[in-house]
Amino acid sequence: STYQIAVVVGSLRKDSNNRKLAHAIVKLAPAEFSFKEVEIGDLPLYNQDQDGNQADSVKRLKSEISASQGVLFVTAEYNRSIPGVLKNALDNASRPYGQSAWAGKPAGVLGSSIGAIGSALAQQHLRNVLAYLNMPTLGQPEAFIHITEGFFDASGNFANESTKKFLQSWMDAYVAWVKKHA
Ligand code: FNR
Repeated sequence: STYQIAVVVGSLRKDSNNRKLAHAIVKLAPAEFSFKEVEIGDLPLYNQDQDGNQADSVKRLKSEISASQGVLFVTAEYNRSIPGVLKNALDNASRPYGQSAWAGKPAGVLGSSIGAIGSALAQQHLRNVLAYLNMPTLGQPEAFIHITEGFFDASGNFANESTKKFLQSWMDAYVAWVKKHA
């Protein structure tokens, strides 16, 4: 397809609701968009000493981000911020200095939680990081998804029609955003 989007899920958990959210929302994108989740669970803990000798997993992540026309972040909230694994991925692919893979890539931020505020604080922290990384990030609509029993149907789609409609409007805005900035 014309637009390849790298999906970064801020949770390593096998049954991650955020991964399910990512899988469900990418189905709402047009055919000219394709989405691929990047692996962040095998990255080393970022260590500046390794800037000149980055691990293969870091090189792989950087080349996947570089080859994409946009990035979609779907994150959990841990202790009112982004999970360390997500920050670690952001740090690893931002270096060496001047060779960040993230710079200029249009971004979308989504997240969910079983808690009432739906990862809002994690998303705000993430936006702060993305601003520094010079990633133009879709501002509206915001999507703070509160996951309750039965949120996904048996096929992994959004069970609730108004939720689906809202997330379709989110995807439409993201698609337009990527086209404008890619
Ligand atoms: C959480 N959880 C959580 N939820 C929330 O709304 N705000 C928070 O600050 C936290 N903090 C937190 C810390 C840690 C270490 C864990 C393990 C969990 C609950 C969290 O939202 C819930 O486990 C989600 O299901 C995690 O997302 P995934 O893994 O389902 O994508």
